[in-house]
Amino acid sequence: MSAYPIEQHTYDVVVVGAGGAGLRATLGMAEQGLKTACVTKVFPTRSHTVAAQGGIAASLSNMGPDNWQWHMYDTVKGSDWLGDMDAMEYLTREAPKAVYELEHYGVPFSRTEDGKIYQRPFGGHTTEFGEGPPVQRTCAAADRTGHAMLHTLYGRSLKEKAEFYIEYFAIDLLMSDDGECTGVLAWKLDDGTLHQFNAKTVVLATGGYGRAFFSATSAHTCTGDGNGMAARAGLPLQDMEFVQFHPTGIYGAGCLITEGARGEGGYLTNSEGERFMERYAPTYKDLASRDVVSRCMTMEIREGRGVGPNKDHIHLHLNHLPPETLALRLPGISESARIFAGVDLNKEPIPVLPTVHYNMGGVPTNYWGEVLNADAENPTRTAPGLMAVGEAACASVHGANRLGSNSLIDLVVFGRAAAIRAGQLIDPNSANRESSKAAVEKAVERFDRLRNANGGTPTAELRLEMQTTMQADAAVFRTDKTLAEGVEKMTQVAAKMDDLKVTDRSLVWNSDLMETLELENLMPSALATIHGAEARKESRGAHAHEDYPDRDDVNWRKHSLAWVEGNQVRLDYRGVVTEPLTSLDEGGIDPKKIAPKARVY
Ligand code: FUM
Repeated sequence: MSAYPIEQHTYDVVVVGAGGAGLRATLGMAEQGLKTACVTKVFPTRSHTVAAQGGIAASLSNMGPDNWQWHMYDTVKGSDWLGDMDAMEYLTREAPKAVYELEHYGVPFSRTEDGKIYQRPFGGHTTEFGEGPPVQRTCAAADRTGHAMLHTLYGRSLKEKAEFYIEYFAIDLLMSDDGECTGVLAWKLDDGTLHQFNAKTVVLATGGYGRAFFSATSAHTCTGDGNGMAARAGLPLQDMEFVQFHPTGIYGAGCLITEGARGEGGYLTNSEGERFMERYAPTYKDLASRDVVSRCMTMEIREGRGVGPNKDHIHLHLNHLPPETLALRLPGISESARIFAGVDLNKEPIPVLPTVHYNMGGVPTNYWGEVLNADAENPTRTAPGLMAVGEAACASVHGANRLGSNSLIDLVVFGRAAAIRAGQLIDPNSANRESSKAAVEKAVERFDRLRNANGGTPTAELRLEMQTTMQADAAVFRTDKTLAEGVEKMTQVAAKMDDLKVTDRSLVWNSDLMETLELENLMPSALATIHGAEARKESRGAHAHEDYPDRDDVNWRKHSLAWVEGNQVRLDYRGVVTEPLTSLDEGGIDPKKIAPKARVY
């Protein structure tokens, strides 16, 4: 019997996380009459989706010709041919429907003169299968699109009677001996009580793990909590070596300056005032895919053409744009530039630097959001009772590199898909399977051990060691040497988890304990990232390996799977899904269009 009293709650579905994916899943579940709870460590409208600026991709054709096949082609090419074709077709076909649903729910999109949803250009989004000009595909609510979505989805979820458990920290999944997820244990931060949420399906919607790195656009809450819980449940993490650097984080502060800035006509220059992207990506220039732009900026800096006294960053110009455009389309970044860079963007360029922004890897799922307990022999085996959506998941639609504005659409398309699938799988009239007492005890024991941790290493100190190691060794450019060093250093850093010191032993608003639980969630993600990167002997998407500069489809067009236990990582691989959902005869994309080829912009 646990030393901690545990309050019981029973639902059909428990969604962990209240960002765009979590709220869209919650709403979809509740709309179908499933008894649904959403458990979240922050107030829903403070989830990290609130920081999503530029918009959500869907081929609405409001600003010119577009179609889902062009969007799929761009997504396949952006992924550097590592994304799964079935999931990428699902994403791009369903995208318009998902955006119109958002519009009908009440998302206040910006409008064109004739009242349609306004769409802007974004990097890597093109027409004519990459042969035509950039397309305006990214639907925007000024530069506060994520903010608008969260408020609308939260309100609609409340209307559908979804129940919210706010400021509850999910500790661990409750898994049966035969591998089914039956619930989750959580800690209520404001009164210290523990809560057992029994569910027929748990949905992980916990976001990414940007905070494994020193400088990230991600909120401090982005600590890979779902990845940590999945890893402790013995499930693999997929494609973790692929970490996206956004080209335009504010130099020093790391805050995001949306790619929409370049979509609206902004451009980058080096210390010679040169628009250097014209040299590297003659067709799409500043609107090349973001892994490409980040690499080009890094090369300019390395070759001594960075700006500033230390020649260590790049300038983003918006000062040539009409002040009315900046005020109408980019009000949020006008404010961020002033506050975080001290720059009036009507007059001066913004100092920017590639900054960790997004994790392509995560908990593997199929395109219905069902978690895959996969290995090489069982690539499609599911983990019953468990789903994952959004940045926590790897469906895999982004492969080795995500296109800007394909994240928000991923959140709503797969949040919605998970709800549709749950509606098929769950019988609201059936009884919940009882959670194993041993699983509950194990989760409580881990919580109690960390609460009483009395070693010599404060959590903040170890977190900083992890962050600086990852920043240096899992960087924009990687080599055999940096990666081998990274593996060695991260193995030592993770070993120090046994020596943690938590000073606050209370249960109420104990941020020391919460940050320790978060660090335990970050660590498996960091380990899987550096091990996966060290093992992958090629360059693909965001994984730019200087000793293996080319993509190697013969040996490496495959997803990595990483099982993490303590500071040890075991890797395996599973094949990429190369067949789209629909054949050409049935109206699908022409397979010749999505066959691997050189990736140039
Ligand atoms: O640049 C941005 O607005 C970010 C968008 C995204 O990551 O999709």
